[in-house]
Amino acid sequence: MILITKFDILYTILNKKSTMSNTNEIAILDFGSQYTHLIARRIRELGVISRIYPNDTPASKLKNAVGIILSGGPKSLVNDPKIPYDKNLFDLDIPVLGLCYGHYLVTDYFGGTLGTGKSREYGIAKMNTSDSPIFKDTAKELNVWMSHGDHVEKLPNGFKQIASTENGSITAMHNLEKQVYGFQFHPEVNHTNFGKKMIENFVFNICESEKNWDTGAQLEQIQKEIKEQAGDKNVFLLISGGVDSTVCFALLEKTLGKSRVYGLHVDHGMMRENESDLVVESLKQIGLDDLHVYNAEDEYLEKLKNKFEPEEKRKIIGDLFLSITDKIMAENQMNSNEWLIGQGTIYPDTIESGGTKNADVIKTHHNRVPKIQEMIKEGKIIEPIKDLYKDEVRAIGEKLGLPRELLYRHPFPGPGLGIRCLCSDGQNNTSTVILKNVIPNTPPVIPTEVEGSLKDIYKLPIKSVGVQGDERSYEHPAVITEEKTWEELKTLSTAITNSNRDINRVLYLLSGKKEDLEKSIVNKAYITKDRLETLRKIDEIVNKHILNNELCSHIWQMPVVLIPYGYDKKESIVLRPVESEEAMTVNFAEIPKQILDKIVKEIEDLKLVDFIFFDLTNKPPGTIEWE
Ligand code: XMP
Repeated sequence: MILITKFDILYTILNKKSTMSNTNEIAILDFGSQYTHLIARRIRELGVISRIYPNDTPASKLKNAVGIILSGGPKSLVNDPKIPYDKNLFDLDIPVLGLCYGHYLVTDYFGGTLGTGKSREYGIAKMNTSDSPIFKDTAKELNVWMSHGDHVEKLPNGFKQIASTENGSITAMHNLEKQVYGFQFHPEVNHTNFGKKMIENFVFNICESEKNWDTGAQLEQIQKEIKEQAGDKNVFLLISGGVDSTVCFALLEKTLGKSRVYGLHVDHGMMRENESDLVVESLKQIGLDDLHVYNAEDEYLEKLKNKFEPEEKRKIIGDLFLSITDKIMAENQMNSNEWLIGQGTIYPDTIESGGTKNADVIKTHHNRVPKIQEMIKEGKIIEPIKDLYKDEVRAIGEKLGLPRELLYRHPFPGPGLGIRCLCSDGQNNTSTVILKNVIPNTPPVIPTEVEGSLKDIYKLPIKSVGVQGDERSYEHPAVITEEKTWEELKTLSTAITNSNRDINRVLYLLSGKKEDLEKSIVNKAYITKDRLETLRKIDEIVNKHILNNELCSHIWQMPVVLIPYGYDKKESIVLRPVESEEAMTVNFAEIPKQILDKIVKEIEDLKLVDFIFFDLTNKPPGTIEWE
C-alpha cells in the first residue's frame, strides 16, 4: 500500500484541477530512513511533486516518474537480510539517486563491494568533491551530514567516484551513461552544505522535472482537510501551550468555529516554573480565551512512581493524557461518536516513533503511544499538522496571525520535564571508567597537538537515547575534562562517537573535579516532586540567561537535564543547547564563556548537584532530549 501523505492528497486535488499528469513526479522508495519524508519536503519546496512509495513497489508503477530516489534506512546491507525491492527499476531509463542505504543498493546491484564496521560516521564530515552534474554550483570542499555504519569499499563497474571524506570509503559516485548516482551522506538535511542545491540539480538538471507544485496553497489545503475529516463532529484537543498544539488550536478554531473545539491544558506537574499560568495567559491575549485547565500533578507522580525505563515513562505519560481526556469528556457528557480527539502531532514525532514500515523506534512520542495508534486506525484522531516540521508549523502560525513571541519560543516536549529527569533503579551499576586509547584511528583526524594534550577521558555509567545510522542507540556519554577551544571540542566529539560503539554522546565538564568523577556512580532515583523542583529551579536559571540574551539568539532549544549521577548530592546537570531548523539534525550550540560562567556560578550556588556538564553532541549521534 502506498503511504498516504498530505502530498498525495494535494497531488490528487491539483491533478484534478489541471491537465498535469503524474509523468512529472520524483518517486521516493522508502527503506525506513528518518529522513525519507524530508527528501519529499525538499522536492516540494522546489515546486515539484514527490511521492513516497513502499520499498517493494513494482517498477511498473514507477515507470511514469521522471526520477527515482532510494532512501536510507536503519538496516545494514552487509549484516541484515536485504530489504526487498524491484531491481527492474534500474532498467526504466529514469535517473536514480541512492542515499545511504540507497547508495549501497546501487553498489550492490551494479557489482561493487560493501564493507561494514570500520568507518562509521555520525553527524558532520568534511567532503571533497570532483566534477559531476549533481555537484554543479556547489563547492569543492564542504561539510556534509552522515549517519552510517556500512560503507562502499569498491566502485561498481562503470561508476566514477565523485566525492570522498577522510575515512577513505566511497562517499559519492555516478554513472553518467546510466544516470545513476549514489551518496553516502544526506543532502536532504539542512546541515549538509549545498544539500538543497544538489537535490535541485538532480530534480531539474538531471531529471528535467517541471514545476508542478504550489507551495503557497498549504494553509487552505489543511483547512479543507480539517473540514472534510471533521464532518459534523467536534474536536477535543489537549494543549501543552507549545508551538504545535497552539497552532493546532488556532487552526481548528478558525476552521470549525470556537463552539466546536474544546481545548484542555493538562498541568502534569512536570511543566517549567509558572509555565501553565503563562500558557493560559498568553493564549487568552491572542483570543484563544476558552482554554480549560486540569491539574493532574498527583496522578502523574503516582503513575510514575518507581519507573525508570525511558520508554515505559513515555508510555505512562501518553496513556494518562488519554485517560484524562476520557474522564473530562465523560464529566461533560461529550458523546464519543460526536467528538474527535485532536493532536498537534508533527512529522518528527511520527517518524521517531517508528511511524513507517521499515523505520526503527527511536522513542515513543506522547502522541504515538499504542492506544493512540489504535484510535488513528479507527479514524478517531485528527492531526491537522502531522505532515509538517517545526519551521513549517511556525510559518502556518504566522499566516494565522499568531504573535512571533509565541511561535518562536523554544520547543518544549509534551511530556515536559518528565523525560528530562533521568531515572534509575540503581541496579547493574558500574563505576565511572577512564578510557584509554579512545582517540581513534578513524576520522575525523585529530590534530596531534590536541591529541597529545588530551589526558583523561571518562565514560559515565549512565546511558541515554541517541540516533545512529537511523537506529535507536542507548549508550554512555564520554566526558572531556581539559580546556579546549570550541573547534577542538567539536572535532573530538565527532571522533569519539564515530569510533566507540558504546558511546553516543560527548560532554565537557563545566563544574566539579575530575577526580570526583572516579568515585561517582548512578544512584537509585525516580520522578519525585523534589527532583522536579531541583530541575525546575536550574532550568529557570538557564532560561533567564539564554532567552533574553542576544548572544544566544542562535539557540533553537536548550534542554536542561537532571541525571542521577554523582557522589555527594548524587545528582548532576547537563546543559544541551542546540542549533536546528526542524529538529531532524542538530549541531550543539556554542555559548559565550561569560554567559556560561554566570549560569554555572548560579547553579553551583544552589548546592544541589555534584557536576555540571555541557553536551557537545550533534544529532546524529545524539537526540536533542536526554532520556
Ligand atoms: P529528539 O530528542 O528526538 O527531539 O531529538 C526532537 C524534538 O521533539 C521534541 N520531543 C517531543 N515533543 N512530545 C513532544 O511534543 C514528545 O514526546 C517529544 N519527545 C521529544 C524535542 O523536545 C525536540 O524538539
